[in-house]
Order: sequence, then structure tokens, then C-alpha cells
Amino acid sequence: MFNIIPQPNEIIIKSGRSGFFLTEDTTITKVPLIIDEFRDFVKKTFDIRLHREEKNENCIILTYSDGIEDDEGYRIVCEDSVIEIIAKTDCGLFYGLQTLKQMLLQSFGKIPALEINDKPMYKYRGFMIDSGRYCQSVKEIKRFVNLMAMHKLNVFHWHLTEDQGWRVEIKKYPELTKKGQKRSHTNFGFKSYEGFFTQEQIKEVVKYCHDRFIKVIPEFDIPGHTVSAIACYPYLSCFDRNLSVATHWGVKHDILCAGKESTYKFVFDVLDELMELFPDKIIHIGGDEAVKMRWKLCPNCQALMKKEGISSEDVLQNYFMSRVNRYLNEKGYTSMMWNFESEAGTELLDKNIYWNACSLERNKKLVSDELKSGRTIVNSSTFPYYFDFPHGTNSLKKVYEYNPEIDGGHILGVEASLWTEYVKTRNKADYNLFPRIAAFCETAWSQPEDKSYDRFLYSLGEYYDYLNIYHVRYATLKQANPSRLRSDVEKIVFGRRIFHWQGLHNLIDDAKVRKIAEK
Ligand code: ACM
Ligand code: ZN
Repeated sequence: MFNIIPQPNEIIIKSGRSGFFLTEDTTITKVPLIIDEFRDFVKKTFDIRLHREEKNENCIILTYSDGIEDDEGYRIVCEDSVIEIIAKTDCGLFYGLQTLKQMLLQSFGKIPALEINDKPMYKYRGFMIDSGRYCQSVKEIKRFVNLMAMHKLNVFHWHLTEDQGWRVEIKKYPELTKKGQKRSHTNFGFKSYEGFFTQEQIKEVVKYCHDRFIKVIPEFDIPGHTVSAIACYPYLSCFDRNLSVATHWGVKHDILCAGKESTYKFVFDVLDELMELFPDKIIHIGGDEAVKMRWKLCPNCQALMKKEGISSEDVLQNYFMSRVNRYLNEKGYTSMMWNFESEAGTELLDKNIYWNACSLERNKKLVSDELKSGRTIVNSSTFPYYFDFPHGTNSLKKVYEYNPEIDGGHILGVEASLWTEYVKTRNKADYNLFPRIAAFCETAWSQPEDKSYDRFLYSLGEYYDYLNIYHVRYATLKQANPSRLRSDVEKIVFGRRIFHWQGLHNLIDDAKVRKIAEK
């Protein structure tokens, strides 16, 4: 009857009762939550301006009730010209409205008598946008956030610091957004590139997210992916290196020095300002792709290891992450990190740090053991949840059919990521994200037993109609599930990245640093 994405838990059509018909006289009851977006949708789609009034005989009623158990759940009851959305919280009402939009669109405003009962599968339904490689405008970020809310996603993981650019204003370290926000050129262009968010803009985005029941987790990626910060403050690195903001993609060998107290001071100062800006009590501290090349040679890092009895540079990273974690814990915050660098083990790594498990394929056993021993884990596996990867690698079908559960316990949720080194424009981002986000959100929201790839494919036509209203430049089904040939070509095109990365540069730099260290 209705093709709603994500598929609700239960839809019961009630025969023998009259339904609802959207007309010029339809009203919607007054509630504190933001329903402008819903009213704009109705205006855009039906050219009807919903009036906000008390109940009348043809209306949409929003009702609070403790009878709905899940904080994010809702019930929709439609009969006798009235649609009632019932929820315990504003969030539940908001999700009910997202469902109602799709129904109105599909039925030209005429909804039969029915009842829908719905609640999410996972508490954490995340999406990450990389603003480090390219810095989207506030308007673009808000557009993505709104689209994510339509898919009932509720965590915005905002990747704000990168080798290629520092994107968040930190008042105590002004160079970060003077020098650190600008790279002299980019992978495929010879033009310079810059951009950052002021603290006022960050607050505006956070409020926009909160109005849509989305929590915001900022990422301050340390100790790796910090070349833009080191370019501003060379003392942050081992050997006080003079570097430029990175121009090319790839893993850099210069990272924050874990052996100097001045590094911790910088990190804690930045975190102090981030905690002021991001009140949702979780901060992502990166931890990915931190090459230990410099730490092995650095007298400061080595001295700290000796003093603390730390057996290897990998364990030194665990010490570093845990020390930062404890700083956050003292202020009532939880830390989150990528699980990337923990393959060498978790000695000294605090158990209360959440893991964004992106490298699951490589170390399923470790992640599973960690889950068993009590670590909180979000499945953000590169395959299939990195949506910067081509459809040929992470096809719509793969995304849909992927089971995110991990042996050993329950995961907190799932997260999809959009890395942007090769996704500079909004249209490219749209093409990468949609309809994969639709497949992803069914895993995040719908009950596993209600999932059906055939039903999902059948829903896509109407889903595309829905996206058209928001001017989304989605991939077609053929593009999202490419043929073998098309998929091979895509992989080759995507693979050209390796000609643009840091490899050679790293070799030269390594030689330089070895010379300094030998002196
Ligand atoms: C990552 O893919 N570097 C987290
Ligand atoms: Zn060092």
C-alpha cells in the first residue's frame, strides 16, 4: 500500500472506516517542536498552507503519551478525517511526521483508515561528513542534516580536523583557522583551497541538528591526521618540523608528539573549546592511521615510554588516547575513536572509549573480543558503509543486505561515512549518498525481520519522487547496482587515487628525519 523508507515496524489497514483527505481546511495542532519543514513540504507538494490551530474535524493532531514506550517511537492513527500522531517525546512526533510526508506524497493526500506502530532498531544511527578535505558551507551542511533527519538518522559525526585543513575556530589558537585552514593546492587542481566554521556557525549547525533530534559528535582527529595543526604550531610534532598544510590525500608520517607535555596542553585546550560548542557529551578523538615512524626516533616519545614502562609505540598510542579520554571523562564526556590502530592490541586502552569500527573486515576477532569484554561499538565498516567508495564496491544491494551485528554482543548502532577528498561538490555527494542512505537507514531503523530487498527495490520509485522534491541528485538503480563492466571501470577510476597520494613525499621526509635523529 505505502512504500515508506525506512520500513515501519507495523502498518495495519482498517477496513470499513473512513480515512483522511488533505484539503485547504486541514489544520495541524500547536506543539513546541519545529514543524516548519513539514508545513513547507505540504506547501511545496500540494500548494496547501496548513494552519496551526486547535483540533477541528479535518486535522493532524500531535499528541504526547507515555503509552508509547520508546523515546523515538511513534504511533499514527488515521480515521474519520483525522490523523493522530502519538509519541512520548517531540522526537517521536517528528519521526511520525517524516512517515506521514511519504504517505501524503504517495496517495495525493488521501490516506485510508490505518494504524502504524514504529520504533528504531538501533539507538545510534549515524552519518559522518568529512569537512576536512573539503569544507562545505553551512547551508550545505544543513541540507544534508535535514535529509538525514528525513531518514530517521540521529547522530551527525562531524569530521572537522584533517591534514588538509583545520575547520573549526579555536580562539586560543588563532593560527589554526588562519594558516591551518588553507592548502596551497588540491589533488586534481592547482588552485588553493580554504574554509572553516566560526564558533557562531558551529553553534548554528548544532542548534539546527538539535531541532531535528540529531546529536552532534565533533571529531578532533589525533594524534594522526594533524598536519594542518603542525603547520601552524611546529612544536606539536616530534622534531618540531616545519610543514605546510597537506595538499594530497594519503597517510602522513608526521603526527602529534606523544612525548611532550606541550602536546597534551594543546589537546586539552582545544577540547575545552569543543566541549563548549558541542554539548552532546561525546567527542570523537580520531585515533586512525597514526603511523609511528616519528615516535620510534623521537627522544621525547622514547623518554616517556621508558618513564611509564610502555612496551611499544602502539601501546604509546593507547596511552595517549586513554589520557585524552580521562580528561574528557572528568568533564562528563565520553570519547569515541576509530578502531584502526588497535590491531596491535588494546593494552592501556581504556575500555570506556567507544569504537567506531571501520576496519572490521581486517580484525573481526579483535572487535568481537572487545564487544564481549564490554566496549561500546558502532559498526561503521568501510565495506559497505564508506559511501565515498564507488557503487561498484559498495553497491546498494550490498549495503542493504549487510548484517551489522558482531559476534559477542549487541552493537550500539551503525554509521555511514562520506570522506570528501574525491567528493568536492554537492552533486557528487548526492550521487554517492543516495539511495545508499535509504538502504543504510533500513538497517539502522527497521526491524531485521521486516527487511526485504525485493520490497525495498519496489519502494525506490516512490522514494525517488520524494527525493526529487528536495532536488537530490541521486544515483539511478543502474548506477547504484552497476554491471560488472561498469563496476570494474569505477574501481579503476577510484584507484587513480594512488597516483596522487603522499607515498614519495613520505620517503623523502623519512630520510630527512632519520638524519636529524642521528645527529
Ligand atoms: C579512516 O578511514 N581513516 C577512519
Ligand atoms: Zn615525539
